[in-house]
Amino acid sequence: MAKQVSLTIDGRAVTVPAGTLIVNAAKMMGIDIPVFCYHPKMEPVGMCRQCMVEVGRPMIDRATGQAVMENGQPKIQFGAKLETACTTPVSEGMVVLTASEKAKASQNDILEFLLTSHPLDCPVCDKGGECPLQNLTMAHGPDESRFLYDEKQHLAKHVPLGELIWLDRERCIQCARCVRFQDEVAGEAVLGFYQRGRALEIVTNSEPGFDSVFSGNTTDICPVGALTTDDFRFGARPWELKAAASVCSQCPVGCNVTFNTRREAKSDGKVVIKRVMPRQNEAVNETWMCDKGRFAYHFTENADRLGKPLVRVGKKQEVSKWDNAIEQAGKKLHSAKGEAVVLAGGRLSNEDLFNLKQLADGLGGEALLYTHMGGGALTASVGVAPGTNFSNMGAGTTILVAASDLYNEAPIWYLRIKQAAKRGATLIVAGGRATKLEKYAKFVVRYAYGDEAGTIDGLAKKDKVGEAITAAENLVVLYGSDGLGLAGSSALAAACADLLVAGKHVGKADNGLIGVWPRANDQGAWELGFKAGADLAKALKGKTVYIVAADPAGDDPVLAAGLKEAKFVIVQELFPTETARLADVVLPAQAYTEREGSFTSGERRAQRFYPAVPPRPETRSDFAITAQVARAAGVEVEGRSALLVMEKLAASVPTFAGISYLKLAEVSEQWPIVGRGDLYYGGTTYENAQGLGVQLPLTPIPSRFDRLSATPKGRGGLRPKENQWLAVPVTRLYDRGITVATSELLNARIGEASVVLHPDAADKLGLDGTAEVRLNGTAAKVKVVRDESVPASVVLLPRSMGLPIHAPAAVELKKA
Ligand code: SF4
Ligand code: SF4
Ligand code: FES
Repeated sequence: MAKQVSLTIDGRAVTVPAGTLIVNAAKMMGIDIPVFCYHPKMEPVGMCRQCMVEVGRPMIDRATGQAVMENGQPKIQFGAKLETACTTPVSEGMVVLTASEKAKASQNDILEFLLTSHPLDCPVCDKGGECPLQNLTMAHGPDESRFLYDEKQHLAKHVPLGELIWLDRERCIQCARCVRFQDEVAGEAVLGFYQRGRALEIVTNSEPGFDSVFSGNTTDICPVGALTTDDFRFGARPWELKAAASVCSQCPVGCNVTFNTRREAKSDGKVVIKRVMPRQNEAVNETWMCDKGRFAYHFTENADRLGKPLVRVGKKQEVSKWDNAIEQAGKKLHSAKGEAVVLAGGRLSNEDLFNLKQLADGLGGEALLYTHMGGGALTASVGVAPGTNFSNMGAGTTILVAASDLYNEAPIWYLRIKQAAKRGATLIVAGGRATKLEKYAKFVVRYAYGDEAGTIDGLAKKDKVGEAITAAENLVVLYGSDGLGLAGSSALAAACADLLVAGKHVGKADNGLIGVWPRANDQGAWELGFKAGADLAKALKGKTVYIVAADPAGDDPVLAAGLKEAKFVIVQELFPTETARLADVVLPAQAYTEREGSFTSGERRAQRFYPAVPPRPETRSDFAITAQVARAAGVEVEGRSALLVMEKLAASVPTFAGISYLKLAEVSEQWPIVGRGDLYYGGTTYENAQGLGVQLPLTPIPSRFDRLSATPKGRGGLRPKENQWLAVPVTRLYDRGITVATSELLNARIGEASVVLHPDAADKLGLDGTAEVRLNGTAAKVKVVRDESVPASVVLLPRSMGLPIHAPAAVELKKA
């Protein structure tokens, strides 16, 4: 246990670990010392001087080295000057006065000083109502200003730092929280100070401006209304907003978030989401979230959402009553029995997926997960065990990231793994190309695309890298699908699982395998027994297919052709996708913001989300629609409420045993304390009062360990012919996926479809500007991006940008 130190703050005794800063010791006792520049997740800098307190220390007799006593107590000597509580660590016997006359006078003076050039436009400021400067002015500020209005400094008020974040220069109090966050936490120092003194300005030094996927967090921690998001500024007042707890549905991290909603006239009196804020979960996202999660929710509001059931009559789809659509779907599934195929996407909740699996099992059909990435059955048995938390990882832990560009695929994992490496964890990044995370790695292992599994197999035998793996106390392996399809990623998962099993890094906290899945709840689907279909076009041919939250026809013409040969197609969706257009029955579903449910994150944490806005009329929850379809097909499935489905799920799936909505809603005290009455300390991140979630126990490894080794490990093996190149799929954070592209705000970041290749390769092919790519019978014109970090032997094709690339493929490239 860390050495403990006893002291008194405002007359109350407290014992805290040595090294604790006064500001934090006070916070633990419920005493709020006013701060502006200090933030508990960043190094203290002592810049704003708002946190001045009186500090006394026991007087030491220089001759004896002993404490001088007075009336049987150590004599306390107070310094002549006040000290900043945010930079001063506690010491034994210290006496701190946070609200003495002297301390108060200083706190008041600093506030008055900060207000000399502040516009005080609280009535029109987005931060008004939740602003630390406003709150502290009420608590400590002068009643009247001694400064003349005309002497105030006036600066630019609408400065776009990028397309997502706006700066009001006048309101900035120069605390540097934003600059330090970008540098220390995000690792992207794209903001800086320009000029000095009163002329100091926050500027962005990146092109495009504020080029970071974490930029929204600066608006939460800015202690004034200087930084605001494009979609919230001038949109609502904080006190009008209601808060609904949720979980981000954009990637497998499962960041805890809060939707702020309001009923408003300009939205025809509807309750709408006005903004998304992080909700604290120190084991998941701490107090942060990425910009994709913050801005992509707009897809739920898109006017193109499906609003009514449709049923095919001849060549046309016609609007239908729910009962009719359900009956037709149910009847066809009933007669298909074992020939029925359920194809589900990983954005569905655990409850939706469980019901779909019940239906498939009841019919004797197949339940397939729509994904390009495999290995999920392994993550259920050698995945990370309960208690796993990146924040605990430091020296003694080795983290191996294989075939994953975490910055693009799971930004908050990127951020937390980077921090773990800073704390001393050994980071090994194995990849076919350079990625951002490599900067923080102790070892970078570069392989030729196609040799992913083979590289991991040989890793333990490599000198230094092998040592870092074999000597590790804890080993966590994250694997992804950079350059890989289903077969390759399944083989890679098996190789990673072998590595973990060989070193006995299974079944313990902070050990195990994590899949960097393309969707938020892919892990949940694997835990519930879904399988990935190797040849989907074949699997759909001649079958009665029930497709939920997946758009195979939109993604790939081959799958569209397969689907056209299906016997009957039922599609349950949010949008009129290509697949929905081919369907015989279309069932309109609710977005996750409109209903409740749970997701299982890549770290195997089941987490609850709650309804934030009323559902669109005539839409229904996925689990409920499936239950109705199942009943019509003669299979009894629970559909009355998500809570009852979870009860059934917990009773029948062993890893979910004991889990209930109550259990998922349990919380415990977290540090740092955020929210409550005090916003200046942790920023406007929401306190978590709605559930920290539960990490699932592992399922037993199927038989003996060597069973894993028997999993086939296919090498890439693709040999492009003359005039062909090997194209590998990569993931971009912002793509044309249905939940991103329908959020207009992110359009600029999505960019155009592109092919990324080494300049030498581009020269050889004479490519510049635009190229024509031919792949699997499709041709498309794409932008040529030259990048020296790409191996000269391959070209990169981003997924979900209009080209059907799901696995390494041979392509033809020529100047367009
Ligand atoms: S913009 Fe906000 S966070 Fe950044 S220095 Fe100014 S007041 Fe601080
Ligand atoms: S890291 Fe993933 S889960 Fe978290 S906010 Fe971003 S997209 Fe959402
Ligand atoms: S100097 Fe302590 S909070 Fe700024």
